[in-house]
Amino acid sequence: MRILTRMMHNCQGPREYNQGGYALMITRILVTTDGSPASNRAVGLAAHMAINHDATLYLLNVIRDMQLPPELKKMAKVENIGQARQDVLDFVAEKVLGDAERRAKRKGVKSLRKATGHGDPANAIASYAQRNKIDLVVMGTRGLGSVKGMLMGSVSRKVANSCDVNLLIVR
Ligand SMILES: Nc1ncnc2c1ncn2[C@@H]1O[C@H](COP(=O)(O)OP(=O)(O)O)[C@@H](O)[C@H]1O
Ligand SMILES: [Mg+2]
Repeated sequence: MRILTRMMHNCQGPREYNQGGYALMITRILVTTDGSPASNRAVGLAAHMAINHDATLYLLNVIRDMQLPPELKKMAKVENIGQARQDVLDFVAEKVLGDAERRAKRKGVKSLRKATGHGDPANAIASYAQRNKIDLVVMGTRGLGSVKGMLMGSVSRKVANSCDVNLLIVR
């Protein structure tokens, strides 16, 4: 009986929630969204976890760099096309973050922060997570990309391979 009690204690006791002897606290959860169905599911799950852990939910959308050679970038700037394009990207980022915020608040999240990143999405996500001392990053398996057949998208794969913050990939 005593052995059984001890076994049960070992399996279900506080050890399960400890990492290296310290209580595992999840106080900052980052969910990254591109507005795709999988990232919406990630927002839903991250919102639930934030409520259960009494954590702050961070929402991040990354606006990709303009993929143009420098001469064309310069030409676009002279024609004032760069700013118009930037306005559209900012508008989309705001819309994506606004949708995610509403989704999270509907679930009952109270403590929430929104942020926009720039450049390579995976690099921006990894550095944002490290800068803000994030305990858990939540992402979708796939995003808006159209490459079929692969289970994981390129951004989530790169974050998993390059960022040492714990990561939850939502199917
Ligand atoms: N620009 C972005 N900003 C924030 N998160 C992103 C961005 N792009 C992708 N993600 C995150 O990565 C997940 C996987 O997307 P991704 O790797 O881009 O797959 P795909 O190759 O199908 O587009 C998304 O569900 C989202 O959580
Ligand atoms: Mg993508």
